[in-house]
Order: sequence, then C-alpha cells, then structure tokens
Amino acid sequence: MSKTVRDYIRSIADFPHEGIVFRDVTTLFADARGFRMAIDQLLHPYAGLSFDKVVGLEARGFILGGAVAHQLSTGFVPIRKKGKLPGAVISEAYQLEYGEAVMEVHDDALRAGERVLIVDDLLATGGTAEAGIKLCRRLGAEVIGCAFVIDLPELGGRKRLEEMDMPVHALCEFD
Ligand code: PRP
Ligand code: ADE
Repeated sequence: MSKTVRDYIRSIADFPHEGIVFRDVTTLFADARGFRMAIDQLLHPYAGLSFDKVVGLEARGFILGGAVAHQLSTGFVPIRKKGKLPGAVISEAYQLEYGEAVMEVHDDALRAGERVLIVDDLLATGGTAEAGIKLCRRLGAEVIGCAFVIDLPELGGRKRLEEMDMPVHALCEFD
C-alpha cells in the first residue's frame, strides 16, 4: 500500500507539555512526495473556485499556505502572533489547547470583498482558526473555506467553525 499524508506525520508524546501528543508535520514537509500530496489534497475541494488571497496561520500555516498560494496564483497573507507584524494591525485574542494568545493581521492586508482561503497545519480547539476568520471578516473579506492537514475531532474545532458557517476541509484525523 502506498503511503497516505497521515503516514508521514510523526507523533511525539509530552510536547510541549506532559499529556499532549504533538502531531509533528515536519516529517511530512521534509518528504517531497508527502509534501506535494498534502498541497494537492488541500486544494482538491476548491477546484474551479476563484480566490484572491491565501491566508496562512503562524507558523506551519505559512509553509502550507505559501505553496497553496503559488498553486492558485494568488497572493499570500500571514496572520501572526502578537507583536510580529511591522505595520498597523488589527488583533483577536483566542484560547489554545494549551494556553492563550493573540493573533494579528496587517489592517491593509485584505480588501473588502476579497475571496480568501485560510490554511493551517492542524485544527484542535479551533481557537486559532476562529481568530483568523474573525480577522479576515473584520477586513471585509469573504472566507470561502479553511483547509487543514490534521483535524483533532475530539477537541471540537470543526464543530466550532461549522457553527460560524465555515466549511472545513481536513486531510486526516488523529485522536
Ligand atoms: C498550533 C497549530 C494551529 C493551532 C491549532 O499552532 O499549528 O495553528 O495550534 O490549535 P487550536 O485549534 O486549538 O487553536 P501553535 O499555537 O502551536 O503555534 P505555532 O504554529 O506558532 O507553533
Ligand atoms: N496544536 C494544538 N494541539 C496540537 C497537537 N496536539 N499537535 C500539534 N500541534 C497542536
């Protein structure tokens, strides 16, 4: 049997805290076949749709989002943790599986009506993606979908995003 995207993902126990099983996509990114498969599969449901921008969520969403934007021939917009972007920003606070954070986007990064695809490596509680969606919507953009390599369904992120009328696409699941 040939390897699936899921097969390339490494699991590391007790990182960054005891009790967390960290789903490590560096092993997927490092493999030429695995990385290409992941980008192709992230794009699959959006064939025939048009986008103006791909938005990547820090940090692993930048790697995936850059490749997806190249493939769609769109621009790329980073949503970053607080204090990293140099220009004027808007901010959204959110809860993580382990901790609390603030996400920011440049206030001129998206224009009203622009069609956006949000990309990240992993959906857990959905707090990060929800903050990203809110930031895009506050700039007047239309978020067409959110695409992830990994969904952790037990943490409820998909349900949370679908309650915001946000279609979720994920390539694989882990407990
Ligand atoms: C991870 C992951 C997602 C987020 C998902 O990022 O890459 O962005 O957590 O969790 P949530 O659905 O519960 O919000 P992390 O916060 O570890 O940041 P990093 O990518 O900058 O290391
Ligand atoms: N972000 C939140 N939960 C995670 C997990 N279990 N593995 C990797 N990244 C995460």
